[in-house]
Order: sequence, then C-alpha cells, then structure tokens
Amino acid sequence: MLEEKMDQVEEERPAPLGIKLGSTRTIVAESQEEGVKTHDTLTCLATYEDVLTGDQRIIYGEEAAYEYPDEVQFMLRTGLPEDETQAEATAMFFDSVVKATNTPSDSVVVYAIPAINNERGLSNLAEVLEESGVGEHLIRSYPESLCGSVPVFGDELDAIGRIFIAINFGSTNLGACVYRRGEQLSRFATGAIAGNEVDRWIANYVEEETQGRVNIDQTTAREYKEQHGDFNNFEPFTDIIQQPGGGTHEYTIERSVMDALDRYVDDAIDEIANTFLPQLANDYMKVYKHTLQEPIVLTGGMACIPGLVETFEERLSKELEHDIVVKAPDDPVTAAARGAHRIAERFVEEGRY
Ligand SMILES: Nc1ncnc2c1ncn2[C@@H]1O[C@H](COP(=O)(O)OP(=O)(O)O)[C@@H](O)[C@H]1O
Ligand SMILES: [Mg+2]
Repeated sequence: MLEEKMDQVEEERPAPLGIKLGSTRTIVAESQEEGVKTHDTLTCLATYEDVLTGDQRIIYGEEAAYEYPDEVQFMLRTGLPEDETQAEATAMFFDSVVKATNTPSDSVVVYAIPAINNERGLSNLAEVLEESGVGEHLIRSYPESLCGSVPVFGDELDAIGRIFIAINFGSTNLGACVYRRGEQLSRFATGAIAGNEVDRWIANYVEEETQGRVNIDQTTAREYKEQHGDFNNFEPFTDIIQQPGGGTHEYTIERSVMDALDRYVDDAIDEIANTFLPQLANDYMKVYKHTLQEPIVLTGGMACIPGLVETFEERLSKELEHDIVVKAPDDPVTAAARGAHRIAERFVEEGRY
C-alpha cells in the first residue's frame, strides 16, 4: 500500500531534461528506465512548399542539410540568435525538435548555454526557450563548459563543488575560465580559434593541396575533419568531385586536415599560455597556482578528435614547463546536455520546482 503510494508520487514528478542548443548540433538528454537517452540533430532549418497544399513547410536537422544544401540555414552560426529573424528561425527549429522527440512539457529543464558576452543574443535565446512550452515547472541555465565538465568528475555533481580550469573547444569560439564552486572567474573567449575556422582552413588547404582543382564547401570540410581528423593515426583518404564540364575527378587528401588541426591546437596553446593564464595569474594568483595542480577540463565538440586531448596536454605542459593533466568527458558532443540533465535531476530529487 505504502509502496503503491510512493510509486504514485514518483510518477507525478516532472521529467528532468538537459538541453544544449548549439550552433552545430542540438542535444536533448532525458531519463529513461535505465540511465539517460540523448537525441541529437544538426541545428539547421529549411523551408519548402508542399506540392499538394501549397503550404510552407519546415524541415530541420540532417534532412534539411542534405536535401536542401543551398537553402539550409544554420541560424545559430554565431552561437546565439542575433536578431529577430534568427530568433524566429530558432523558435521554429526548437519547436520541431520538441515535437519530434516528444519532449514532455511537464518537465524541469536545464539548458547548457554558451558563455558569450552578448546580452542581446542571450536574451533572444532566453525568450525562445521560455516560449517553447517545455520546462513548465522550472527552467534554469548554466554555462555549457560547466555542464560539460559534470560527467568528467564522477556520477554526481562533483564538478560544482570544485575549483578547476575549463576550456571549451566549440564551433564558434574557444572559451576558458576557472570554475570555483560553479562560479566563473577570469572568463576569456576568442572567436579566432574555433571549429568553424578549422573547417575554413581545411577548405583552403584542400584547394592548395589539389593545386586549385578542388573546392569543397564548409559542410564537406567539417565532415573531413570529423571523419578523418586523428592525432594518433591519420590515414590519407580519397574523395571524388563532379567536374563542371562533366566527368569526375578523384583526389587524395594527405595534409590538409591535419595541418589545419595542428594549427588549431598550436593557436589554442598560444592563447591559453600567453593570454588566458597570465590574465588568471594577474586576477587571482593563488587560484592560478592551485588550479594548475588540478586537472584541466576540455569540453566542446572539437575534443572528440582522437588524440587531441593528449596532444593538447603534451604541448601545454611543454609550453609551461610544468606537467599539466588534461581531461575530457567520454562523449564531448553530448556531455553538456548530460551534465545539464544531471543538474535537472537534482532539482527534481530535491523538489525544487
Ligand atoms: N566526432 C567529431 N570529431 C571531430 N569534431 C567534431 C566531432 N563532433 C563535433 N565536432 C566539432 O565540434 C564543433 C562543435 O562543438 P560544440 O561544442 O558542439 O559546438 P557549439 O557549442 O559551438 O555549437 C564543430 O566544429 C564540430 O565539427
Ligand atoms: Mg559551444
């Protein structure tokens, strides 16, 4: 009898959700019978006319990117909705995702949001999220690199009680800060070192490597990076393009992908060692000394590249002449949403909604 009652109480609790609306991918993390399930989709949208009714219809995600490569819109290209049009597109996109994944409105939602100093963009994003209908009970947001660090420090929320340096390797920028019990200190960000930049470099290097014969678009460059980028054992690969005059041209890529990735890591080391860390030392000398003895956490999708974390650790240790330990979550693409989900679970468990 009592057990039955407890079960009922259990059932009436709102569902905890962790959501990351990223400029490349959107991830929703939700509880299932055992553990957590994640949905992911490209953050993009295309519209087309229904040939039967003449109505405008929306498709999003991978389908939109592959079926409408010329019209598809990645509305969060800069990381946040910059204006009214982007905010509307984001709302349409997010609406479609919520419907397609059956995301419950009876929920406690934690959003992992970019730590970008952009009031307008952040308030546009907040508005989109508040109007989406999910998170009836509670909506909170935390920086994505804090959320992404949660899975690195065990199964609970230890990340929120610690002090450590977190570096986020995202699509649109590189961000760094210290988290002290969840508070950000000495925040630093630069858009010059970013996954999207790497894609641009790859496209340029491919043109050089093929003596101007091959021009690839950003999506193809991103796929080369995601499928072939590997600091441990990169293998040259071949691809084929259609020639403008007809026929096909097959080419092999030996250097372009890894040259771009090498440059990325070197530039990141340079910014961290010569800008962020001196700034931190200047602002908080004791915190600086202490956090260099602790693991540095790397979050963001670029941390997926095999060997990148170890390469970064090695080069940073060398640059600082000090042994640094660098850690990343097991699955960097979903880590922020999983961490956000864990925070949402905590709110539900403690009845804070
Ligand atoms: N498996 C992968 N291998 C290599 N790079 C990846 C992989 N998955 C994602 N990325 C890259 O990580 C970046 C996205 O990082 P993420 O932290 O999700 O971005 P944001 O928060 O900026 O939207 C993109 O440049 C993407 O190409
Ligand atoms: Mg990001």
